Amino acid sequence: MTEIGAVGLRATIAEAAVRLAAAGVASPRYDAEELAGHVLGVSRSELVLLERLRSSAAERYAELVEQRAARVPLQHLTGVAGFRRLELAVGPGVFVPRPETEVLVEWALSRLKPGALVVDLCAGSGAVALAIADEAPGVTVHAVEREEYALAWARRNVEATGLPVTLHCGDVADPAVLAPLAGIVDLVTANPPYIPVGATVEPEVAEHDPPAALWGGRDGLDVVRAVERAAARLLRPGGLVAVEHADAQGDSVPAVFARAGWADVVDHPDLAGRPRVTTARRR
Ligand SMILES: C[S@@+](CC[C@H](N)C(=O)[O-])C[C@H]1O[C@@H](n2cnc3c(N)ncnc32)[C@H](O)[C@@H]1O
Repeated sequence: MTEIGAVGLRATIAEAAVRLAAAGVASPRYDAEELAGHVLGVSRSELVLLERLRSSAAERYAELVEQRAARVPLQHLTGVAGFRRLELAVGPGVFVPRPETEVLVEWALSRLKPGALVVDLCAGSGAVALAIADEAPGVTVHAVEREEYALAWARRNVEATGLPVTLHCGDVADPAVLAPLAGIVDLVTANPPYIPVGATVEPEVAEHDPPAALWGGRDGLDVVRAVERAAARLLRPGGLVAVEHADAQGDSVPAVFARAGWADVVDHPDLAGRPRVTTARRR
């Protein structure tokens, strides 16, 4: 029996995709399906099993599509961001973890030995620290974040996942941060803010990612330089550091480490082949 006021799901999603494409959304069909799945409480792949939307769900869906057309990030509307094996809670006040950061995690996991001590700087939602704790059980992970708003999301994710990550509120530029761990850490990871001030970014980024997560000073490298100094303090001799950067920084970020005397300075591409992560070893 057809419900009174219900609308066809496939046609509604198709219309939403057209609306989102017209608004300049990069992946309109995917986003239209994700929002439909969110409203109906099913995964995208399960949408094929459903035919119709009740009118109350159709109204809620239309509201969400309009917000997405106004370039509110998809993950702020669904409240979650997938990162490696995890679903993390995100929303206003915290950076939405990006797929390209998975390269940083992949490299870190390939170098970790059982029992290793890891520090993630610029933790945001806790994405990098939590993914390492999840996929390398037995390592000890500490994470540092300066902004209280972001830290609140990270706390929520640590509690929800139950993964053993210890959070610290602090500025990576402050030599007192994690002072008790100085000289004994095996691996430091960081996805710092690295966009040069004045660069143009998408509306989702400009209006919804927190400014502290984006801007890295005139050349984009202010926090990268602070990360280099923090890693030099924290790592044991032979310890490793991995830092994400913008695709235009495939020379400038390695140069920060090479000039400071690090060994084995290497830059790694992301899955699209763009320069993305610099790694180095403390002498
Ligand atoms: C690009 S986001 C990365 C968040 C998370 N690691 C991820 O990959 O999704 C950078 C984070 O660094 C934090 N941050 C910026 N400057 C900082 C500083 N000086 N000390 C500590 N955290 C900082 C920002 O608040 C933001 O949460």
